[in-house]
Amino acid sequence: MKIIICKNYEEISKKAASIVMKEIRKKPDLNIGLATGSSPIGLYKNLIEAYKKNKISFMDVKSYNLDEYIGIERSHPQSYYSFMHENLFKHIDIQEKNIHIPENDITRIDDLAADYNSELHENQLDIQILGIGSNGHIGFNEPGTPLGNETFIVTLDEQTRMDNSRFFENIDEVPKFAITMGIKNIMYSKKIVLVASGKEKAKVVYKMIKGKVTKSLPASILQLHPDCTVILDEASASVLVKKAAAEHQKFNKTVKQSPIKP
Ligand code: GLP
Repeated sequence: MKIIICKNYEEISKKAASIVMKEIRKKPDLNIGLATGSSPIGLYKNLIEAYKKNKISFMDVKSYNLDEYIGIERSHPQSYYSFMHENLFKHIDIQEKNIHIPENDITRIDDLAADYNSELHENQLDIQILGIGSNGHIGFNEPGTPLGNETFIVTLDEQTRMDNSRFFENIDEVPKFAITMGIKNIMYSKKIVLVASGKEKAKVVYKMIKGKVTKSLPASILQLHPDCTVILDEASASVLVKKAAAEHQKFNKTVKQSPIKP
């Protein structure tokens, strides 16, 4: 894992956008996996700005979103379909036919996961953008999800529903189910960029990077990805930095107490 610690959210967003743009310039028809949540909004703003200044085009880019709620219509303001159009797609030149967001039509519930999964099989992602949930989820892979899962329908954790209730009138409005790429789909991406900000994420970020790889904290699997960059601000990196400093001090003390004899 490559860890980049930036000063604040603004810098995280700029850094992440510069990585994405570099990849698009290398391969204008790349497949990009996109995330929702508040974390990548700044990254999307930077991409929009670059597009408006004619620095980048998304004309041939194909996008694949990580997840979508089940139980609300695509037209609902809090659906991830609406989120992506509002925060990115409607401002750039991506073609509608190249946008892929998991379908959530409840009448087709038995086919939704398999259909999206075959699209992912046919189109390996070149880069996947991720945020992290406060319980360590990526996409909607909640703690306990088998690490070998591919796209599936998930029952959301109460913690996740609580966290996401800030976008709804109240918790009862938050859907109980969602469709999500599985960990296996995410890990199959050639490159991964995870962004996290704020002190509420500091503990989970530490566990993701330094804890053991376990299905109880799905994001920990990213330690095993060959090209994963984690971009943090000082607040979300605070536990990581504090523990590293403590370990360093402990090491120095041990070395002083037991000097190497010639
Ligand atoms: C949702 C999304 C995740 C996202 C997470 C964190 O649950 N399904 O993809 O990473 O929220 O959101 P935020 O960035 O708002 O903390």
